[in-house]
Amino acid sequence: MSNNERTFIAVKPDGVQRGIYPEVLKRFTQRGFKLVGIKLTLANEPLLRTHYADLQQKPFFPSLLSYMMSGPILATVWEGKDAVKQGRAMLGATNPLNSAPGTIRGDFAIDMGRNVIHGSDSVENAKKEIALWFRPEELVDSKSTLASWIY
Ligand code: TYD
Repeated sequence: MSNNERTFIAVKPDGVQRGIYPEVLKRFTQRGFKLVGIKLTLANEPLLRTHYADLQQKPFFPSLLSYMMSGPILATVWEGKDAVKQGRAMLGATNPLNSAPGTIRGDFAIDMGRNVIHGSDSVENAKKEIALWFRPEELVDSKSTLASWIY
């Protein structure tokens, strides 16, 4: 298993405005994942239509769009063993009411339309999302930073 798997984690506008983002950074860092990219950014409609391409026909898509454009998003990239699957587990279920306590959504959300955080659901999608949200030069080369505390 690769120590360098990457996942895209984004704290959505509610998670930024409600001050949940430090908790997200804390949890991923303390778990052992390495932050290799971070920026506060406003998402525009074309970006979101690409990001959520598979959901464009869903009835909730317009409200998802306006929610995601309602304020800054904290876009991050994390690197480490099994980062995609472990990241999804740390997020909890899409519907926060089905998210176990101890997960981010299970601890900080109760509504599907305000579920605080996004995480890539496959390694393939993680690659696409990282390329969509970040320019290559915005990401740190993992080999340039100390990794020996974790592995
Ligand atoms: P999805 O990609 O299915 O879930 P996840 O974010 O867990 O990968 O859906 C994207 C977002 O769309 C989800 O985080 C919240 C929103 N959403 C709704 O508002 N209503 C719904 O019925 C679904 C399935 C998702």
